[in-house]
Amino acid sequence: MSMEMTAWNALYNSLHAQEDQRPFSRAAVARIYRFAHRHHRAVLAFLAFSSVLAVFTVATPLLAGRVVDAIVAGAPLSTVLSLAGLIAAIAVAEAGAGIVTRWLSARIGEGLILDLRRAVYDHVQRMPVAFFTRTRTGALVSRLNNDVIGAQRAFSSTLSEVVSNAVTLLLTFVVMLQLSWQITLVALVLLPLFVLPARRMGTRLARLERERANHNAVMSTQMTERFSAPGATLVKLFGRPEEESSAFAERAGRVRDLGVRTAMVQHVFITLLTLASALALAVVYGVGGMYALRGSLDPGAVVSLALLLTRLYAPLTALASARVEVMSALVSFQRVFEVLDLKPLIEEKPDARKVQEGPVSVEFDGVGFGYPSADKVSLASLEEVATLDTRGGEQVLHDVSFRAEPGQMIALVGSSGAGKSTIASLAPRLYDADTGTVRVGGTDVRDLTASSLRRTLGMVTQDGHLFHDTIRANLLLPRPEATDEEVWDALRRARLDGLVASLPDGLDTLVGERGYRLSGGERQRLTIARLLLAQPQVVILDEATAHLDTTSEAAVQEALTEALQGRTSVVIAHRLSTVRAADQILVLEEGRIVERGTHHELLALGGRYEELHRTQFSESRATGSDGAIDPAPAGS
Ligand SMILES: Nc1ncnc2c1ncn2[C@@H]1O[C@H](COP(=O)(O)OP(=O)(O)OP(=O)(O)O)[C@@H](O)[C@H]1O
Ligand SMILES: [Mg+2]
Repeated sequence: MSMEMTAWNALYNSLHAQEDQRPFSRAAVARIYRFAHRHHRAVLAFLAFSSVLAVFTVATPLLAGRVVDAIVAGAPLSTVLSLAGLIAAIAVAEAGAGIVTRWLSARIGEGLILDLRRAVYDHVQRMPVAFFTRTRTGALVSRLNNDVIGAQRAFSSTLSEVVSNAVTLLLTFVVMLQLSWQITLVALVLLPLFVLPARRMGTRLARLERERANHNAVMSTQMTERFSAPGATLVKLFGRPEEESSAFAERAGRVRDLGVRTAMVQHVFITLLTLASALALAVVYGVGGMYALRGSLDPGAVVSLALLLTRLYAPLTALASARVEVMSALVSFQRVFEVLDLKPLIEEKPDARKVQEGPVSVEFDGVGFGYPSADKVSLASLEEVATLDTRGGEQVLHDVSFRAEPGQMIALVGSSGAGKSTIASLAPRLYDADTGTVRVGGTDVRDLTASSLRRTLGMVTQDGHLFHDTIRANLLLPRPEATDEEVWDALRRARLDGLVASLPDGLDTLVGERGYRLSGGERQRLTIARLLLAQPQVVILDEATAHLDTTSEAAVQEALTEALQGRTSVVIAHRLSTVRAADQILVLEEGRIVERGTHHELLALGGRYEELHRTQFSESRATGSDGAIDPAPAGS
């Protein structure tokens, strides 16, 4: 195991160990702080305005007390009116400051959502293909949406609830103590009774919240998977829609139950606090009234104390429930961090070089490879399994060596599952070889920049994926600057110009989800047109013509042969007729190259290739078709 992986495992295990012990760690809080630090100016302004608001909160009850005292003392009308005017002015100022404070906290909160979303998106984009083959899309999308918003809530509520309320609380408390420390203490004896259970409730709510997030993610997974064109087709053909519906309903039902429980826990808690506040108010009126009747306290002070108390319990309630909210929302932060902590196994080196211009060679040197096991590339919660598979890593390729000189064509043949597509995926670094080296233009692909590798290598994959976009957009993916003329030229060479021209929207026709509005062969020809347009120096074709009938295969093959002229190519094909012209044919069995040579050499050898050829030849004779075309042998 490499150093990198050991470190990754250690990090992974420590994260999960912590998750089991407590809802969040100190390290997570430190990280949130780093994220928030970018908004420190807005945060400071927010704190300043919150403090001003706190002063206003305390000022009004004090003025109200003064009014009562003025009335009791029989002061002139003007005194009472000016006090009332002051109260009005403070109310207006308070409203203004409230608006600014809210604006600031919204700015900070939404800014944080933006930061987190960008971080997660960028990070996920850098993940290796192995990660995507394991992860469920819906679960991932849910991280980007729900959890990022949850994380923002954690931050906003910490800021607006905790910080500003703490200031208000402190100020109110100090003023109350000055008015009458006895009454203040008596009124507050009820407090610990209500604040202590808050800790327990916070943990409980965090657990409920985590469970709910998991269920939500499973539901969005089911929807993204089933409501895609291929998924919906599969359900209609083989699925059991009733069972799918009831499984969905069951989950949605559990989310409802959890929602109700969360709401109830929260509400019971808030009710307790409100009750405490009401009881404390009764204490103030009773004890304060008694002191006032004895003459040891002004009536105005009683009124001020009562008003302050109501304002004391409000931030107190908020503070206590903020803890609850912060706890549950911190879970979201953690779920986001979990994704950000996944190490992209395939990374560009800081001193990576560009691929040289012009024709380049492709070389495999003693390459061994096994697909990475789940625990190295994935997260249990994104795969929706309890624990990650540590198995896998079974060797798929053994000591594969070959060299395609610039402009040469190498063909890979062999039975299904032999490892042909795997070899093809190592050159563009969809995966990295475990042992040995893959070189493009004489340089280890691990020392090349991703962008230049992308520009040099063009690949038509076995499943020819298209985005849900227009034909034009799909074609322009590798070369956004190509002109319409070039696009039409590529279409013509892929024998697709007739079809596109006949479509009402032409190049602007939407291909549908994953290109499902096109036939299999049309889709394949479109991916070939994309390759022709990109004009890469190295072309990798994985069964590029498999979906075509023999006539159009012959035509497309012709176009491909033309496109391959002067380019290095690795061609995978089941139909041996398409690889006859290769400079070298590699016969692959169970991840090993068992034979190599030209078509004629291999036939003369009388081994596995000859056997494959014989079976296919008798098949094509039986059906009366042979798509064989012998393109001008390249490189000779
Ligand atoms: N993403 C993956 N994760 C784990 N194992 C994989 C993955 N892709 C392929 N394999 C396994 O690797 C082996 C080689 O697969 P590969 O796709 O290279 O075969 P192939 O020669 O292209 O076959 P075909 O002709 O059917 O396309 C197979 O045993 C397959 O099950
Ligand atoms: Mg394959």
